[in-house]
This record gives sequence, C-alpha cells and structure tokens, in this order.
Amino acid sequence: MTAPGAGIDTALDEMSAPGAGPGQILIKAEYGTLVWSEILQDGGRAIVKLYRRRPFYDPLRRWFIPYRAEREFKLLSHLVRNGVPCSVPLSWSHGRRDPHGLYEMLVTREVAGATALDKLLQRPGVVADLSQLLRLVRSMHDCGVSHGGLAPRNILVSFPAGGAPAFHVIDMSYGHVFPRGIAATRMATFDLLDLVYRLRPHFPAEHCNAWLAAYGLDDSAKQGLMHALGRYRPRGHWAHLRRGETDLRAAIARLPGPRSPRGRDSRPAGPPSASGT
Ligand SMILES: Nc1ncnc2c1ncn2[C@@H]1O[C@H](COP(=O)(O)OP(=O)(O)OP(=O)(O)O)[C@@H](O)[C@H]1O
Ligand SMILES: [Mg+2]
Repeated sequence: MTAPGAGIDTALDEMSAPGAGPGQILIKAEYGTLVWSEILQDGGRAIVKLYRRRPFYDPLRRWFIPYRAEREFKLLSHLVRNGVPCSVPLSWSHGRRDPHGLYEMLVTREVAGATALDKLLQRPGVVADLSQLLRLVRSMHDCGVSHGGLAPRNILVSFPAGGAPAFHVIDMSYGHVFPRGIAATRMATFDLLDLVYRLRPHFPAEHCNAWLAAYGLDDSAKQGLMHALGRYRPRGHWAHLRRGETDLRAAIARLPGPRSPRGRDSRPAGPPSASGT
C-alpha cells in the first residue's frame, strides 16, 4: 500500500481485501471498523483504523460532532506534546468513495512489539507492577485529558530490552481535552474506576492500593475509590450517563470568556475525590 494517509483511494480499494497488500496484517474487521497494520516508508509500521460512517444521519451529524478520527488525532497529539506515552498519531482523513461510502481514517505509529494489557493479564506474573501505568494515567490527567475508555485492552505494554515494561495509551475515541488538569475531578475518577474495576480481579487489594498511591491518591481518596468500585458498572446505562456528563463538561469547558467554569475543571491538579459514580 502507498504511504498511509497519502493514498486514501488506493487504501480504500485495497481495504476490501485487507491482509492482501504486501506487509499488511489485519487486526480487526467489524461492521463499521477495520484496523490493520502496514509498513511505513521509514521501515517502521503504522496502525490504520478505518471507520465507515453511517450515510443516513452523517450529513446532519457532521455539522455538530467532529470526526472521530480527528478527535482522536488531536487528543493523541496533545499527549505527545505533553510527553505522555501513547500511540503516536501520523495523519487523519475523511471522505467518500463508492462503493465504500463515507469513511474516516486515523493512522498512528505502531508501538513495536507491544501487547494489549488485557491479554497479558491472562498470563499471571508477566506484568506484576502497574505503578508506572498509574503514573502515566496521572500525567495524562495532569495535561487535561480524560480517556473515557481506560480499559486494559486500550493500554499497550512493550518490553524494552533489559528495562521495565513500558505502557502506552491508545484508542481515545471517547476522550476529551480540558483546558486544565483534571486530576481532582469526576472525569479522572471515571477513568480510574474503569481501569481499577478491570485490574482488581487479577491482583490483591494491597497492590491496587499501592498503585493508586503512585497515581497520587491519599488514603481517604483511595478508600473512597475502593468503596465506589463496589457500586461501579463499566457498561450499560450508567456508562452512557458518565460519557454524557463528560461530553457536557467538555463542551462547557470550551465555552469562551466569563462563562468558562471556574469550578472543579479549573482547579490545579490534586488528588481526585472518589465521588464520581
Ligand atoms: N499504536 C499501536 N501499536 C500497536 N498496536 C496497536 C496500536 N494501536 C492500536 N493497536 C492494535 O489495534 C487494536 C485496535 O485498536 P484500537 O483499540 O485503537 O481500536 P478500536 O477499534 O477502538 O478497538 P476496540 O473497540 O476493540 O477497543 C488494539 O487492540 C491493538 O492490538
Ligand atoms: Mg480499543
């Protein structure tokens, strides 16, 4: 395939048979989403995510909601600028081409040799210390980013030669950038709950507590979070409400001038409260 992002038409033609192009490896093929990797001109590899857009409501929707690929591109760029390890964005694009219809596409650089954390959790002992991951989450929150889907499948782990495991966040399609750090806000709490809910079955409580301390939670905030975890459900009705709340807060935070909120989103980063359920 040609350079990612440059040859969209070619890419879309080849899309009907992903895996067929030289060096292409199909990662995910679902209705509406195709993910594959391919070779970059510099010899590295790219991850290409292609989303089909629904033609019926798209013409209306695109006036109000930015492209998903564009949003993710901007969020990842913001993380790169702030030194937060993530899937490095290369390009995004959108268009229409028959017979594929409307599409949007995001290209990022592959994290070489990385495995998604959810797969590693199935192999006890491979990743034993997640303090570094929680520090990464804190740095993401400190630069104003809420992830919105912080599940282990959206965290990649690589193993640099002779070093400790390295973590990278990916898949920011539900994320937002706020004008200031969000570490003491409900949005940060939602991310932590999403993550700890899925880690907790694999590790003793004292390990999770130590990692939350690495994030910067004090004892009472940790207790609050663990208590909230008992009532927390990452999917379904409540997940939609949490996403809705984050979308609304992000929209309010973008309002210009004196109407900008001076409340929780605007506070300097501090330990999050666990009241965000
Ligand atoms: N930068 C990257 N380096 C290596 N692999 C990646 C990278 N980005 C994505 N992947 C791989 O592609 C898969 C899908 O990527 P991503 O999670 O961004 O897309 P998605 O369609 O939103 O997936 P899902 O809905 O299943 O979470 C990941 O699980 C991972 O295996
Ligand atoms: Mg994902």
